[in-house]
Amino acid sequence: MFKSTVLGGVAALATIAVVATAATVVAQDTIAQRKELMKGVGGASKTGSQLAKGEIPYDAAKASEAMGTIASNWAAFTKLFPKGSETGGETTASPKVWESFKDFEDKGQKLASDAVTAQKAAASGADAFKGAFGEVAKNCRACHEVYRVQKK
Ligand code: HEC
Repeated sequence: MFKSTVLGGVAALATIAVVATAATVVAQDTIAQRKELMKGVGGASKTGSQLAKGEIPYDAAKASEAMGTIASNWAAFTKLFPKGSETGGETTASPKVWESFKDFEDKGQKLASDAVTAQKAAASGADAFKGAFGEVAKNCRACHEVYRVQKK
C-alpha cells in the first residue's frame, strides 16, 4: 500500500516533468518563430529604406513586396505570444507585452496598416513610396522602446 502510493507519486512527478519539458520546448519553438518573423520584418524594412533613400534603384515591385512582408509577418507574429512564452529562447520581448496586450496589438496593427498604405503608394513612384515608408519606419521604435528589453 505504502509502496504503491510512493510509486504512484513518482510516476505522477515523472508525468509532470515530461509535460513541463514539452511546454518549454513549445515555448522555445514559438519564440524562435516570432524572432524569425521579426527578422523578416527587419530585412523587408531595410529593403524599404534602401529604396526610399535611393541606395538601390527604385523598383515598385520590390517595394510592394517588402511592405507586403511587413504586413503579413505582423499578422503571424501577433499570434505567437501565448502564456508560457514570456521567457526563454533568448526572447527580447518585454513582460509588458502580456500586461498590455491590447495596446501592443494596436501598435502592431498600425504597423501593418501603414505597411499596406506604403504598399499601395509603391506603384505611384519613388517619392510617394518614400513618404509612406517614413510612416512605416516610425512604428518600429515606438513599439520596441516599450515592448522590447534591450539586452546588455
Ligand atoms: C507592435 C510592436 C512591434 C513593432 C511595431 C515592431 N516590432 Fe520588432 N520586435 C517586437 C518584439 C516584441 C520583438 C522581440 C521578439 C522576441 O524576442 O520574442 C521584436 C524584435 C525585432 C527584431 C529582432 C529579431 C530577432 O532576431 O530576435 C528586429 C530585427 C525587429 N524587431 C525589427 C523591427 C522593424 C524593422 C520594425 C519596423 C518596420 C519593427 N520591428 C516593428 C515588436 C515590434
